[in-house]
Amino acid sequence: MTETSADESALQKVATTDELEPGSSSVVDVDGEQVALFNIEGEYFALSNVCPHQGGPLGQGRVEDNCVYCPWHGWQFDVETGEHVQGEDAVGTYDVVVEDDEIHIRL
Ligand code: FES
Repeated sequence: MTETSADESALQKVATTDELEPGSSSVVDVDGEQVALFNIEGEYFALSNVCPHQGGPLGQGRVEDNCVYCPWHGWQFDVETGEHVQGEDAVGTYDVVVEDDEIHIRL
């Protein structure tokens, strides 16, 4: 049986802070998973890029008041909690850790 030790080993660098300006988003690949990364006024958040409705790309959605609007049919998700504002179909979230100018996602 293999043990996973330090939490550090679960961090994966996905971008640098200068690649993601406040108010912008991008989509990164994390071990084959498409992850939508958001910079909201200097705070970073990460959600699954795949909308639970029909798979729309959340990383391409408009962000307003800490919520992202799916570009396909407009479902609205809280970028911090992944909660679906109008219903129960939440989207998965990831912890984001910023060290110096590097943005990491915890797997
Ligand atoms: S695919 Fe996202 S709202 Fe329909």
